[in-house]
Amino acid sequence: MVAFTLNGQPVSVEAAEDEALLHVLRGALDLSGPRYGCGAEQCGACAVLVDGAPAYACAIAASSAAGRSVTTVEGLGSPDTPHALQTALLAEQAGQCGFCLSGMIVAASALLAREPDPDDAAIRAALDPHLCRCGSHNRIIRAVQRAAAEMRA
Ligand code: FES
Ligand code: FES
Repeated sequence: MVAFTLNGQPVSVEAAEDEALLHVLRGALDLSGPRYGCGAEQCGACAVLVDGAPAYACAIAASSAAGRSVTTVEGLGSPDTPHALQTALLAEQAGQCGFCLSGMIVAASALLAREPDPDDAAIRAALDPHLCRCGSHNRIIRAVQRAAAEMRA
């Protein structure tokens, strides 16, 4: 059993020693936000926050989350109470298929938590590990700028 905090709530879940955190999140814990893209630390679709820092859930064992705090996109906002980033992505019509956005959102949220007024280069650097095969990068960057401005206001 592995016990950790998931989106602010304590959870305890069975996991094999080398079972990926992503597999446990999407399986036993029934969260569909973190996505399986490449499974090889190349796309960022699986990104979650571990103790506030972005991490590839496909590449870390669930056992390594023991005692730590894991946040998925579900922990940042909901349809009723969306995160500023989610509202901004909608306003900028930044998502097409949306497959990349869970990872983009958690990475951007970590950036805005440590840097409330990031410049373009900082946003690009934070999102650099994240691929968007729909080519929505420029709109996503505008959405992060919009969310940052709204969060500062
Ligand atoms: S699925 Fe984890 S980085 Fe692509
Ligand atoms: S919106 Fe489709 S992969 Fe980014």
